[in-house]
Amino acid sequence: MKNLVIIILATIFIFSCKYEDALTPEPYTPTPYFLATPQDFPDMKFEEDNPLTEEGIALGEKLYFDNILSTNGNSCSSCHYQEFAYSSPSIGPTGNNIMPHFNLGWKKHFGWAGGEKVLELVDLGDLEDGNPFLNIAGVMGQNDSILSRFKKHPVYKEMFRKAFNVDIVNVDIDTRKKHISNALAQFMRTLVSANSKYDKYLRNELQLTTSQLNGFVIFNTEKGDCFHCHSTAMFTDHLFHNNGISSDFLGVDKGRYLVTNNTEDMGKFYTPSLRNIEFTSPYMHDGRFETLEEVIEHYNSGGHYSTTIDPLMKKVGIGLQLTEQEKQDLIAFLITLSDTEFLTN
Ligand code: HEC
Ligand code: HEC
Repeated sequence: MKNLVIIILATIFIFSCKYEDALTPEPYTPTPYFLATPQDFPDMKFEEDNPLTEEGIALGEKLYFDNILSTNGNSCSSCHYQEFAYSSPSIGPTGNNIMPHFNLGWKKHFGWAGGEKVLELVDLGDLEDGNPFLNIAGVMGQNDSILSRFKKHPVYKEMFRKAFNVDIVNVDIDTRKKHISNALAQFMRTLVSANSKYDKYLRNELQLTTSQLNGFVIFNTEKGDCFHCHSTAMFTDHLFHNNGISSDFLGVDKGRYLVTNNTEDMGKFYTPSLRNIEFTSPYMHDGRFETLEEVIEHYNSGGHYSTTIDPLMKKVGIGLQLTEQEKQDLIAFLITLSDTEFLTN
């Protein structure tokens, strides 16, 4: 009799716990993730409400490589391939070159024309006009097909709960979008590339060849004058410039003007980092150059005059007048910025 009472009480207790669990799961505390700042890099920029956590990064990584977010079978990785430093050998559907993903946590604007300032907002924003991810918002708005895919999916519900303490299939669309974006941004911030041959040279771990060192000097002196815009350890000044690739501006060539509507911004673009440049062909916002030789030829020619050409493009009409050997040296230096580990790890 006494045993029976205990069994009944125990059963009630167990069931009531289970029931409670189903209603309010224990809040989960995600594990903070520490990302070391590479030598000579400033501190990374974070959004206050989206700190890095192991669970958030794992979720972002899974979403990045999964086609669950699109209606046409694409994933982020259908355009952003790791082996090309998360860029692509082809250009995007609206004629814009597909940008690489590395060191995004330090960028001040996103997109060639800098249409977005917050990494969390890029993938669902209007930066990538014409790519399927613009439709994440659209698709969610119409029939929220992502919701039904998450409902059927074996692991996403649990992954969102652990990353953000959210019941992803029982929140409104905006909350769902926000958590998808936050996870993707967390993953993208971990794509840090700072272990190129050049970094190893700076750390005294290896020597550069004579040609590479000559290229380094050309890059960092008035001779090539690359360092003013492609500056610091990030190889960008985070500013917008017209580097003289066009003399008139149609469509995407209008660049920063399309964002600000200010005629002084016509033809200006966010200075791209030159890290991993060996792998991110084609080059420039519209992918007009296939090879680094063509890029160097452009700068060597001095570029095309227009009213907004950058004052730092000092050799318009004259050209840099580099010898064949100096052009080769400059390329040899640019290739020391390749971080092969980043492409495979
Ligand atoms: C159809 C090809 C395509 C797909 C798929 C795609 N992107 Fe992009 N991405 C682009 C293009 C093109 C750009 C350059 C946009 C511009 O013109 O400014 C870009 C730029 C970006 C940038 C800005 C990078 C920088 O340095 O400023 C981020 C961040 C980004 N994409 C994230 C994503 C994420 C996250 C996904 C998946 C949800 C994704 N992309 C899917 C083509 C694509
Ligand atoms: C006035 C600033 C400025 C100077 C000086 C400058 N660049 Fe650039 N560079 C830019 C901008 C802005 C872009 C992107 C332009 C575009 O997309 O249309 C760019 C693009 C590039 C690209 C292509 C990057 C990519 O991801 O597609 C390479 C390579 C490059 N520059 C190398 C150099 C070299 C080498 C020098 C020196 C000979 C140099 N740059 C001098 C501003 C500059």
